[in-house]
Amino acid sequence: MQQRELFGDRLYTGFDGSNFFVDKEEITYQGITLDDFDKEICHCQKCQLGKTRANFVFGVGDPNASLMLVGEAPGEQEDMKGEPFVGPAGKLLDKILTAIDKKRDKGVYIANVIKCRPPNNRDPLPSEVEKCEPYLIRQIKFVKPKLIVALGRVAGKTLLKQDIPLKHMRSKTFDYRGTPLRVTYHPAALLRNPGLKAAAWEDFKFIREFVSD
Ligand code: URA
Repeated sequence: MQQRELFGDRLYTGFDGSNFFVDKEEITYQGITLDDFDKEICHCQKCQLGKTRANFVFGVGDPNASLMLVGEAPGEQEDMKGEPFVGPAGKLLDKILTAIDKKRDKGVYIANVIKCRPPNNRDPLPSEVEKCEPYLIRQIKFVKPKLIVALGRVAGKTLLKQDIPLKHMRSKTFDYRGTPLRVTYHPAALLRNPGLKAAAWEDFKFIREFVSD
């Protein structure tokens, strides 16, 4: 723990007790890195969104993250930039992360269930989720977060396969394929309704505690 504070996430201890460094880029699953995986899937045409997207939005962040945030799908700005949560909701998300002592590239990995923008930001179709969710499942295997947080009702119900109101998903820890999962408000909902921010802050205080070493 002390060594982690001193040396960061890249110091590992071998079976013989010796310490060694591993570059973040070298974190692999089944012999490939997250970047390799991005390159492998970024030309995906498994569903119709492949034809309308500007960019495939793989995900960003720390491959060693303890916290993985999952949104529903890229919006217009994310599609243009190829990065999740870069629009106004993303700016608010960055502020929330700062408030829990995290940054987009330090301790957090951010992705969406669907990697390509649905036209007019409609909800992802079940057939699109079916094709795309395996990519998210594989990203989780690379990152091995302590906690997954679904941002918003659509991401929550898509991962949980339960169509229940957000208020019944919040404040409960679910299991997503072996990883604890919580659901909180989508930052866009907080922008539309700032009155929800106090409850969201309660959620993020829990999240901060849950992922702390
Ligand atoms: N909303 C999402 O769910 N994901 C993004 O990447 C941007 C907005």
